[in-house]
Formats: sequence, structure tokens, C-alpha cells
Amino acid sequence: MSEQDQTAKPWGGRFSEATDAFVERFTASIGFDWRLYHHDINGSIAHATMLESVGVLSAEEKAQIITGLEEIRADIEAGNFQWSVSLEDVHMNIEAALTEKIGITGKKLHTGRSRNDQVATDIRLYLRDEIDTIASELKRLQSGILDIAEREADTIMPGFTHLQTAQPVTFGHHLLAWFEMLTRDAGRLADCRARLNQSPLGAAALAGTTYPINRALSAELLGFDKPTNNSLDSVSDRDFAIEFCAFASILLTHLSRASEELVLWTSAQFDFIDLPDRFCTGSSIMPQKKNPDVPELVRGKTGRVNGHLISLLTLMKSQPLAYNKDNQEDKEPLFDAVDTVKDCLRAFADMIPALTARKDNMYEAARRGFSTATDLADYLVRKGMPFRDAHEVVGKSVAYGIETGKDLSEMSLEELQQFSDTIAADVFEVLTLEGSVAARNHTGGTAPKQVKAAVSAARKQLN
Ligand code: ARG
Repeated sequence: MSEQDQTAKPWGGRFSEATDAFVERFTASIGFDWRLYHHDINGSIAHATMLESVGVLSAEEKAQIITGLEEIRADIEAGNFQWSVSLEDVHMNIEAALTEKIGITGKKLHTGRSRNDQVATDIRLYLRDEIDTIASELKRLQSGILDIAEREADTIMPGFTHLQTAQPVTFGHHLLAWFEMLTRDAGRLADCRARLNQSPLGAAALAGTTYPINRALSAELLGFDKPTNNSLDSVSDRDFAIEFCAFASILLTHLSRASEELVLWTSAQFDFIDLPDRFCTGSSIMPQKKNPDVPELVRGKTGRVNGHLISLLTLMKSQPLAYNKDNQEDKEPLFDAVDTVKDCLRAFADMIPALTARKDNMYEAARRGFSTATDLADYLVRKGMPFRDAHEVVGKSVAYGIETGKDLSEMSLEELQQFSDTIAADVFEVLTLEGSVAARNHTGGTAPKQVKAAVSAARKQLN
């Protein structure tokens, strides 16, 4: 690049030699921030409209600028736009193209503005749109979960603690636990959106501007709730991006937990569910394999999203006010977190409604694991035995069951009475899996009746 080109840079006035070629590449962000073009153009149109309303631009100039920007948007969308590294970033690429299109008026667009408030505006607008898309994907997933939970409200499976069979639960109840996690995630996402929705435009480089700007107007034109309160904070704050990545990390943590369960449940050892072939892949060497790649990959993607959260926290740590070039590094982690969240939600929202429960296997697994042992203890307590003694009696019965290969419900009354003569014929009502789940009939409990009620309450809350 020649020195003449160098002084053609929008900031080239005080420079006398060209930027080192490596430095130009090193400092440029166009390779990734071109993705902000749509929001950058919207921000510029709002800014120009505001400048005209306060008399800084004429109506004619504003109209020329808007027409030029819309043409540029169309060129970019048609693939007819040449991004240039020497113009550093999306902002200067678009501004240069505007000036090329409409001449000197293009150079007036940047009046009362800096790339610092411009980029802060662009990322907020970008993220706000993505948040809205993500919120609706999250809702689609949640509604799919509710459908399956309702269908499986009576399906009995083992509930686990320490991954050891603990007590019988209904599959619908298990799925509703996922639903609750996602409801909190949706709340965190909504909080993030509410906090980011303020307009930094007008903060300019850091201290504000001497033009008679109307910040409320540009904020309103862009759908922001209000202008930000402090110009220094406006250009340096990226905590909305950190907050989004925190949301993303927690969401992916939740999806990784569900993924892990799907992986376990599709294994031959559990065989609790079946995922349709279209969500699985085969092995190039083992012909029998059907691998749950989609949940495995979602589980794995949690790592990269956690990494992005740490990147942004570390990027912001100890940064003095106001804007620093460090902040250019906010984009790639943020973009990738957004893309990853969207892909993982899509995978889950498509996959969950398509899963089928192998009810017989679930039932059999619950039956095998002495999962009604607590019910037997509760039965003895209801008959007047202190809980600790009941625990002891049941423990002995389980040891006998392990020795003889019998579940509690398969023992005769005489066999059970060896451990306590408090046990009577009515014990078999509590030793069945159906009786066990039906008895947990309170808000938040696993009884099929409660699961159905919880599904309909959740549906109301979701819609
Ligand atoms: N590309 C820059 C970024 O992403 C835009 C703001 C540049 N501002 C500046 N003063 N160099 O942060």
C-alpha cells in the first residue's frame, strides 16, 4: 500500500507513513465484524435522521445518506460488496462506500459520533435481535418438552441419586425437571435483554459531543428503551455480552446434563429411549453402532461456550475507562456463543419431540433396583415404628432380596415378616411402582396427576 493510500484512511490526517502491513492485518476486525453490517446501517440511519431533526444535516443530505446506505445494504446482501482490510472494520468500510456513492455528503454522517459509540450500538442491536431468535427457539424446545412430558406422565422409570436407583419417578416428571431449568434460563435471557436495551449513541468517543444532539430520538428510532446515562460507561461497557455468555454457559450446562442422560438412556445398558436415526450416526468400522452424536456434540459444545465467557471476563478485567482496543476482541467469542446456542437449541428442539420411550425397559429397571424401599419404610412409620428402626428393617429386607434375587414386591408376606411383624398384607399396595409414584401427590411431586397439572400450568406460563 502506498503512502498516498495511507492518508486516504479515514483517520489518516496526522500520519506520515503507511501502517505496517502486518499491523494493518493484526488490528483489523473486518474479517469478523462485517457481520454487524445490518445493524451498523440501521444505527447510521437513525443517527442521520436525528442529525437532520436537530438541523445538523439538511433534509436533502439525510435523504442522500439513507438512500446510499440502503444501496450498500442491498449490495452486501447480494454479495456485491468488496470488504477491505485497509479500511479496518465494518464501520469504516461502509462509510467509505457511502462517500464513494454519494460524494461529500457521505463524510458528514460521522458528525457527532465516534466508532466507539457506533460499535457499542451495533453490538447491542445485533445481540438484541439474536436474543429474540434464541428466546423463541428456547420456547419451541420447552413446548416440545411439555408435549412429551404429558404423553409420558404415567410412564414409570427409576429415579436416581448418585446414578444408583433411588425411587420410582414418572418420565414426565423427569422431563419437567429439564423444563424448569430452561425456564430459569429464559428468565436470565430476558434480564440480559432488558439491561442491554439502552442506546449508547451520543456518547461519541467517550465524553459526548458538542452538537445539539437528541439522544432520546436516536434511542427511540432504534427501539431502545432510553439513552444510556453515562458516556464513559457507554463506550466501554461490554457486560451485556458477558451476561449473555453467562446465560449461554448456564443454558449449555443444562443442555449438557440432558445430553448426558440421553446418551446414557440410548445405551444398550439402559435402553430407556430411542432416538430416530436422523439424529444419530453410524460407525465406519462397527456396523452395529448407532451413536447419539447430536447430544454428545451438544455436551461437548458446553466447553467452548464456557471458554467464551472466560474470554470476555478476562478481556474486561482491569480495563481502565473508557474505550480500549481490547474491546474489539469481544466479537468473536460473542458471535460464536450466539451461533453455538442457536445450533444447540435447534438440535434439541428438533430432537426431543421425536424421542420414544421404551416403557417396558424403564419399568423393569425401576422394579429391579429396590426402588420402593423408602415406601416400605414410610409404611412402617405410618404403623407407628420410628423411622430409624424402619430404615433398619427395610435394609435387612433389601439384603435378603439381593441374596435371593427378589424385589421387595416379589417376596411373600411371610418372607417380609421375618424382618418385622408390623408388616401386614396391605404392604403390597405400597410396594408397587404405581402405588409409589401415585402416593407422591403434592405440588412438585412425581404422581402422574401432579405431572399433568404441572404440564398444563407450564403451558399457560409459556404462552
Ligand atoms: N473495530 C473497533 C471495535 O470493534 C471499532 C471501534 C474502534 N474505535 C477506535 N477508537 N479504534 O472495537
